[in-house]
Amino acid sequence: MKTLCDMAVDVLTTADGRAKTAKSREYAAQWAAARASGNPLPIGTGRPPLRPARPDAPELLEPRDVPKRKPGSPQGRIALLHAVAHIELNAVDLHWDIIPRFAHVPMPMGFYDDWVKAADEESKHFNLMCDCLEEQGSFYGALPAHAGMWRAAEDTVEDFMGRLAVVPMVLEARGLDVTPGMIAIFQKAGADSAVAALETIYSEEVSHVAYGSKWFHFLCGRHDHDPKDAFHTLVRRYFKGALKPPFNEEKRAEAGIPPDFYWPLTETG
Ligand SMILES: [Fe+2]
Ligand SMILES: [Fe+2]
Repeated sequence: MKTLCDMAVDVLTTADGRAKTAKSREYAAQWAAARASGNPLPIGTGRPPLRPARPDAPELLEPRDVPKRKPGSPQGRIALLHAVAHIELNAVDLHWDIIPRFAHVPMPMGFYDDWVKAADEESKHFNLMCDCLEEQGSFYGALPAHAGMWRAAEDTVEDFMGRLAVVPMVLEARGLDVTPGMIAIFQKAGADSAVAALETIYSEEVSHVAYGSKWFHFLCGRHDHDPKDAFHTLVRRYFKGALKPPFNEEKRAEAGIPPDFYWPLTETG
């Protein structure tokens, strides 16, 4: 029988995006079914690769070398969908990576439930973005993409709390800030399927940020750390640069991130 860590490593070492997300969704369903039956799958142990397997395309470029396109044009909207697809594919791997990476840290079963559910949703998000691209006559891999997306994972490879602070509580929270603006762009263009896909992503990402906040606070409690101080220390250690307002205060609050967590980080120091 496969353990949860075996499943995670299988997803991480699968290169093709659609094949990766198909495995991810199948394993998430197996995990949920076993949990519902009262006979959960073992967590196990595993050796996740430092970098997940990726398809030959898209070409990965440094952020400054990725061409900028006007979001008002059809090509600009395709570039935006492509960029979101790339973020979602990285999110699939980020969610599976954390399970074997930190399997030596004993965690309640609810932690794995949350992470597997979020991995399943990220897989759905990638597929939705690919469907939208294909509807527009493009596909994931047609344009270059940012090379730096796995950086946060590598920087926090030995720091579980650092990973939670930077990935769900900074990067995914940033998604809550910028997604309404993206939805407005596609609404203006009358691109209904892209609007529907982005609205699904927007609503589900709130819970991903909330999972990050919940388990970060859990670990702070275990180690008797003040959560706000620990968050500031870890973000300053692992995240380069300052956080950028405007913030989506309402959705961040819904996800359990109060303003005094992020406002002090708008200044580097
Ligand atoms: Fe997502
Ligand atoms: Fe997410």
